[in-house]
Amino acid sequence: GAPVLADIGKIEPGQKVTFAWRGLPVFVVNRTKAQLDALAGEDSRLKDPKSENTDQQPEYAKNEYRSIKPEWLVVTGICTHLGCVPDFFPELKPEPFDPQWKGGFYCPCHKSRYDISGRVFDGVPAPANLAVPPYTFIDDTHIMIG
Ligand code: FES
Repeated sequence: GAPVLADIGKIEPGQKVTFAWRGLPVFVVNRTKAQLDALAGEDSRLKDPKSENTDQQPEYAKNEYRSIKPEWLVVTGICTHLGCVPDFFPELKPEPFDPQWKGGFYCPCHKSRYDISGRVFDGVPAPANLAVPPYTFIDDTHIMIG
């Protein structure tokens, strides 16, 4: 499939927009500082906090933010369990969700949860972090996916 040019200039802080690439949904999230700050405290609850599974992201996204620029998350919106499309939950959710989950992505099929970097929590069926597709910044408001 051809690369896709994504205009991210109108995505507000805290908002997610979905682009289509190779028939897959690609989530682009403009993360707030509060969301980025929340990432640091989650490692003990994650299956792969340091993104050691090299299949799940390019080398340039192997960092705490799993991204090129900290505020911009780019992940494939396909649950790594059985392929459902997770919902975006940018805020901390109260019961029945685990109170240690600070929000991110929630898969309605079998209740897998991911943080706002797409890192999967323990205790859920999804085996791996959401995949980061290859992408590059063309300028401050455009990325090329693929
Ligand atoms: Fe997402 Fe099973 S497909 S938890």
